[in-house]
Amino acid sequence: MQEHHDDLGKIITLENGKTLAEGKGESAYSASFIEVKHIPSPFPSIRNVVIKQPVGCSILTPWNFPSAMITRKLGAALAAGCTAIIKPSPETPFSALAIAELARRAGVPDGVINVVTTQKNVEAVGRELCQNKIVKKVSFTGSTPVAKLLYGLASSTLKKVSIEAGGNAPFIVFDDADVEKAVEGAIACKFRGSGQTCVCANRIYVQSSVYADFASKLSEKVAAFRVGNGLDEATTHGPLIHEKAIDKVKRHIDDAVSRGAQVLVGGQRVRGAGSFFSPTILSDVPLDAAINTEETFGPVAALIKFETEEEMIALANDTDVGLAGYFFSRDVGRVWRVAEALEVGMVGTNTGLISHATIPFGGVKESGLGREGSHGIEEYLNQKLIAFGGI
Ligand code: SIN
Repeated sequence: MQEHHDDLGKIITLENGKTLAEGKGESAYSASFIEVKHIPSPFPSIRNVVIKQPVGCSILTPWNFPSAMITRKLGAALAAGCTAIIKPSPETPFSALAIAELARRAGVPDGVINVVTTQKNVEAVGRELCQNKIVKKVSFTGSTPVAKLLYGLASSTLKKVSIEAGGNAPFIVFDDADVEKAVEGAIACKFRGSGQTCVCANRIYVQSSVYADFASKLSEKVAAFRVGNGLDEATTHGPLIHEKAIDKVKRHIDDAVSRGAQVLVGGQRVRGAGSFFSPTILSDVPLDAAINTEETFGPVAALIKFETEEEMIALANDTDVGLAGYFFSRDVGRVWRVAEALEVGMVGTNTGLISHATIPFGGVKESGLGREGSHGIEEYLNQKLIAFGGI
């Protein structure tokens, strides 16, 4: 571009009408974006400084982690210097209120952390928090359909948006894996929160030569789970959030079974009051079952047999979402190949647990925008250039 500076300037004048001096000026300016990565000025009398300013945000959080999904956002927001309005899920408002009260006791000034609880007015409040001009950034964790709705609302004022939406995580066990470790990983990953996390395994693919071994070891462990009241120390797994969640789990099991899957463990709701469902393992789940394409968000492990790595990658990536993916293998070449090939924001290799405050938490495709946790601070800041002239 620099070599053809005069010609490019003339093209700009011919197509745009600005003066040749301006055209050439633009040509040089244009080339500078390719040449200059940082902020030095081409003009000796100017110094450029970039400052970062907090934006002021709304935080909309789900019921599955009533506390951690708030602090994942609020920690970065406060560190950036933002005030925040938190809208917890209507199902789980109390952790938000407790956090706000502890912040007040710790001396956080009034108005910095605000909580708006909702019941029937959830849509109206959500709309306000995404459209009001005072709010400069929206941070949301929840389902992909709701994320799309809120993204649309926030676009009315072009707010900054970060989204952590739904997943449909593949969990892959290759024939060279340590099967015992893979079973442990599947339990941690699939049944955490009774299967109600966005990063839970949803489709468990097992290579045919280790399939029977994995299925039997997993079944043995899952059959020993104790579902019950979360306050009871003997309980290993609590209830689902509500009846709608039970309905979805039942629909996915019925659909898979009607297409030829077998129930190895569980498959029924637990008798008695409350939305308890027995942890379930389905074997030989066919690829056209709903559980392959929809996030179950419940305690159902769907086992699917596969033959080759290539086939596996294609199956794992055959989804519109891409939050987390997991696989077990002891072949270092395969570990790199598969980790690079999975279309997700976060990969666990030889582990079923990836979530920590320090990781860049977030997804690709329809699983989200931006990253959260300690890597999320930039999401709550605007960059401002201050050009100092006359030097
Ligand atoms: C989520 O389910 O949205 C978050 C899960 C996690 O933090 O591990």
